[in-house]
Amino acid sequence: MSFAARSAFRQLTRVAAPSARSFSVMARSAAITQVPRAAACKVAFTQTRGVKTMNFGGTDEVVYERADFPPSKLQETFKNDTLTVLGYGPMGRGQALNLRDNKLNVIIGSRKGASWDKAVSEGWVPGKDLFEINEACDRGTVIMNLLSDAAQSKLWNEIKPYLTKGKTLYFSHGFSVIYSEDTGVIPPKDIDVILVAPKGSGTTVRNLFLEGRGINGSVAVYQDVSGKAKERAVALGVGVGTGYLYETTFKKEVYSDLYGERGVLMGAIQGLFVAQYEVLRARGHSPSEAFNETVEEATQSLYPLIGANGMDWMYANCSTTAQRGALDWWKKFHDASKPIFEELYESVANGTETRRSLTKNSAPNYRAELEAELAEIADHEMWRTGKSVRKLRPENN
Ligand SMILES: NC(=O)c1ccc[n+]([C@@H]2O[C@H](COP(=O)([O-])OP(=O)(O)OC[C@H]3O[C@@H](n4cnc5c(N)ncnc54)[C@H](OP(=O)(O)O)[C@@H]3O)[C@@H](O)[C@H]2O)c1
Repeated sequence: MSFAARSAFRQLTRVAAPSARSFSVMARSAAITQVPRAAACKVAFTQTRGVKTMNFGGTDEVVYERADFPPSKLQETFKNDTLTVLGYGPMGRGQALNLRDNKLNVIIGSRKGASWDKAVSEGWVPGKDLFEINEACDRGTVIMNLLSDAAQSKLWNEIKPYLTKGKTLYFSHGFSVIYSEDTGVIPPKDIDVILVAPKGSGTTVRNLFLEGRGINGSVAVYQDVSGKAKERAVALGVGVGTGYLYETTFKKEVYSDLYGERGVLMGAIQGLFVAQYEVLRARGHSPSEAFNETVEEATQSLYPLIGANGMDWMYANCSTTAQRGALDWWKKFHDASKPIFEELYESVANGTETRRSLTKNSAPNYRAELEAELAEIADHEMWRTGKSVRKLRPENN
C-alpha cells in the first residue's frame, strides 16, 4: 500500500474504528459506512405524494423512491397486465426474476438456446411462463424489450405486429428508438413507450434486490397515450428492482450511457490502467508492483473511499505528498483527455457508435469475434498478474 493509501486508511480507521482490525473488504466497508457524510446531509429535500425534488449540486431534479411503491401497490397497478420480458441475458434475467419475486404476472420470450436453457434452469416453465418470442409478444400487454440492442433492431419486424393499441413498449436503453434511422425501430403511435434503465449490470440489479436494496435507475417516457405512462414506468421500475429513479429522456439516457461506458466506466479506465502499467514495467518495476500501484490499490483502497465520501474527501485525507502530486497532475490528465471525450460525445451524438455496434454485433460470427477481443484483454500481463494478486487478498487467504 502506498503512502497515500496508508494515510487514507489510517484516517478512516481513526474516525471509524480506533481498535486494530484486519484490512478485509468487509471490515473496510463496515468502517466506511460509519464515516460521517457531510455532503449527504446538505441535500435539500421536498416531497409531494411520492415525488421528491432533490437538489443535486445546485440543480433541482425529480426523484422517485421505492418506498412509495410497496409490492401490494405494484400488484394492484399491474393486476390486469401480462409483463413479457424479451430476452434472458443479464438484464432480462435480473428484471424478470425481480418481477416474479414481486408477485407480478411475468412471462419470458426467448429463442431456444443458451438463454432459454438458463431460464428453464431457473424455474421458468415452457408453455406456462416461457415462450418463443412471437408467442410471448402475443400474450403480453407490456412488452419489455430486453433483447440485445442488435437483436431489437433485427427482430423489430417480428415484434411490431404484436404492439397493438393499448399495449406498452418498455426498454432499458434509449438506443433502438433514438437511433431509429439505423435500427428501424419506430413504435406505433397508439401505444405507451417507456424506459427504465438501471445504472448497472443485470447481475447487480438482481443481487441488490436479493439483499433488500435497490439499484439506482433512470426513468423516461417517449410516448404517453394512456395518460398513465409515467406512473406505470415508475411502478415498473420499482418492480424490476430499482430503489431510486431519476427522470431523464430517451435521448439523454442513451447519449450518456454510450458515452460513459466508452469513457471512464470502461474504455478510458482500461486505457489509463494499461498506460500506467506499461510505463512502470518499461522502467523496471515487477508485474506485481506495477499491478498493485495501478489497479489493486485503486479498487481496494481508494475507489471505495471515493464511492463512500467523494474524491474531495479522499484527497483531503491523503498524505500531503500525495495531495501535492495529485493536485499538480490531475489537470494535465484532464487537458490531455478532454479532446478525446469531446470526440467521443460527437461520435455518440452523430450515430457512429450505434452504427458500429449494430454492424459488429449483428454479424453471424459476432460472439466469436467479441470473445477473441476479450481474450486479448484477459491475456494481457496486467490482468494475468491481477489473478495472482487477488489470491493474496486477506479475504482469500
Ligand atoms: N441501462 C443500463 O444500465 C443497462 C445495462 C445493461 C443492459 N441494458 C440494456 O438492457 C438490454 C438487454 O441487455 P443484456 O445485457 O441483457 O443483453 P445481451 O446479453 O446482449 O442479450 C440479451 C438477450 O438477447 C438475445 N438475443 C441476441 N440476439 C438474438 C437474436 N438474433 N434473436 C433472439 N434473441 C437474441 C440473447 O439470447 P441468446 O442467449 O439466445 O443469444 C439474450 O437472451 C439492452 O437494451 C441493453 O442496452 C441497460
